[in-house]
Amino acid sequence: MAELEIHEIRSNDISAIFFINETMASEKWQSGLEDTESLLCGEHPGVYIGELNGKPIATVCFSKYGNAYSHFGFYLVDKKYRGMGYGMKIFSTVFKDINSSQNISAYSVPNMVEKYEIHGFRAQWLCLQHKLDMPKTLEILKAIPSNQNGLTSTKNTNNVHQETLLRYDTAVFGYQRHSFLIKLLHAKGSHVKVAVNSDGAITGYAVARVAYRQQEGYILGPLFADSVEAAKVLLAALFEEMLSHGLSSSSPTAIINCPCSTGRNSNSMRLMEQLEGKNTGHHLVYITTKGVPLGLFDKWFGIASPGIG
Ligand SMILES: CC(C)(COP(=O)(O)OP(=O)(O)OC[C@H]1O[C@@H](n2cnc3c(N)ncnc32)[C@H](O)[C@@H]1OP(=O)(O)O)[C@@H](O)C(=O)NCCC(=O)NCCS
Repeated sequence: MAELEIHEIRSNDISAIFFINETMASEKWQSGLEDTESLLCGEHPGVYIGELNGKPIATVCFSKYGNAYSHFGFYLVDKKYRGMGYGMKIFSTVFKDINSSQNISAYSVPNMVEKYEIHGFRAQWLCLQHKLDMPKTLEILKAIPSNQNGLTSTKNTNNVHQETLLRYDTAVFGYQRHSFLIKLLHAKGSHVKVAVNSDGAITGYAVARVAYRQQEGYILGPLFADSVEAAKVLLAALFEEMLSHGLSSSSPTAIINCPCSTGRNSNSMRLMEQLEGKNTGHHLVYITTKGVPLGLFDKWFGIASPGIG
């Protein structure tokens, strides 16, 4: 086996970013146009590349949020080099330096869940991918009687105090990720709506990013909301705006990855049923090393993406 050169990348490492995005796309992992760049804007992105003779062939990330939590993702080896030990090599090289007191999470493909157990990962719940047809969703939303009676309205981010929005995300996500989120909110072609109650307090927010492969439409998430009603108000405002002047309006669909567990956040599945979201069959398993992390999971209707958490 040729020697794999492993190094951490920065946001100016264009060829490594291209390798990550193209390899994800070849696996049909739908990601946003600037997801990798957004992750790299984080305080401790921990994105690594493995190269053979200067050519990237493997990647993994362990992105750290505060001292107690990391998210593991982007675990990919170029198809031609799989089964030769390169995956294990990059994973274990990076994993051995992760502080063992942290809780590490990931969204695992089903066939890897048992394998990750040797590192201490245990399954928590499923994350089910759905596809929303935006015009149809909007029609359904308009037809559903709302019990909000104007109690929830939406704003664009420039009409919201940024610090307050970031604090809302920290409370719901469980850990601070300000620099990453600022970049995600402002990624090229992104649409963002913030829900506020009659006192002006934030009750949710939703982001839709243009997909890396633009013909795939949009990637929806995070969709965090205090209630199903707030989530619906957010989606209606977001889709209305995207359909009237979205970059990817030629493909009016949005992919959303919904955490789904019994006893915790049954709302996200109920919302998908109501909106007639099509289950794409792309199921992932949320795994962690130290039990359920912080985070208000009942408010998680959609995550940003499995790779970026
Ligand atoms: C998963 C993937 C990165 C592994 O890379 P690889 O270079 O093929 O892996 P290796 O050759 O080092 O694997 C040797 C064995 O260890 C397993 N393995 C790989 N990484 C592992 C890890 N981090 N922990 C435990 N087992 C692991 C492999 O499944 C394989 O098992 P097998 O012999 O039973 O088939 C690669 O197959 C891939 O890119 N798959 C598509 C993307 C994907 O599914 N990524 C995982 C998302 S959770």
